Amino acid sequence: MDETLPHFELTPELDGAIAETARQLREAAHAVALTGAGLSVESGIPPFRGPGGLWTKYGEPPMDGYQRFLRDPKAAWQARLNPEKEPWLQGLHDTLGKAKPNDGHRALAALEAEGWLACTITQNVDDLHGQAGSHHLAEIHGNYKLLRCLQCVARFREGEVSVDPASLPPRCPGCGGLVKGDTVQFGEPIPQDVLRRCFDEVACCDLMIVAGTSATVFPAADFPMEVLRNGGTVIEVNPLPSDLSRVASVTLQGPGGAVLSRLLHHTRRSADLGHA
Ligand code: APR
Repeated sequence: MDETLPHFELTPELDGAIAETARQLREAAHAVALTGAGLSVESGIPPFRGPGGLWTKYGEPPMDGYQRFLRDPKAAWQARLNPEKEPWLQGLHDTLGKAKPNDGHRALAALEAEGWLACTITQNVDDLHGQAGSHHLAEIHGNYKLLRCLQCVARFREGEVSVDPASLPPRCPGCGGLVKGDTVQFGEPIPQDVLRRCFDEVACCDLMIVAGTSATVFPAADFPMEVLRNGGTVIEVNPLPSDLSRVASVTLQGPGGAVLSRLLHHTRRSADLGHA
């Protein structure tokens, strides 16, 4: 258990609030989950902000990462192919490579598979929702395992684009466009296809489960606000108060793994009991 977080106990009050959330979830017409780095903390990946956060430790990266890439994509690719030059980046790559989905990821995948969750929008680039079995997934900040063409927005797995260190930057096999990592850098516009998908999901969402995010980075941070503006319900899952806690319909204070797997338990249970 992460020692930087308050001790967690599933009190009868919290369990009751989770059971009530399960009832609301079963009644929802179009439930969507929005997740952030906190959901992957129990998979060993540090968050960005707050206790033990990457930016807390190393400081926020330059806000013009994308413009730097465009100015010299060859140098950016050389840095990508030699991460040892940036110790924190090497560390993050190693951690991402070793990480496995946790109970939180698995609970959301099960809620999707059992028809209670229409879509998961994640700010995480760690590929763990996909590994856990989520299919209706929008990775708004990209996926660290993928490459993307900046021209035709095609995405590739490593190996599907020839990356020759002697002739960088690599080019799109389809349109010849410039290829970069799929992860959205600071200063980079969110790719239109995934942004459109998120807006469409949020527009018809009447219940949003917001798990493991400080809700400080836009446009994702506005999604729960849009659901509230449309008269919907926002359920926050976070062991610590966040910018969203003041306005969320309910805050289930605890770690994502424990709270979301308990939510799955209650959702199934009320199904078995034939509750409406
Ligand atoms: N379960 C649930 N939530 C947790 C847990 C846990 N086990 N541990 C920490 N948290 C919460 C923290 O309290 C915090 O509110 O997760 C949140 C993590 O917030 P951030 O580190 O700010 O991560 P996130 O909101 O995803 O950041 C948004 O910022 O740096 C950019 O592109 C990056 O996608 C990222 C975006």
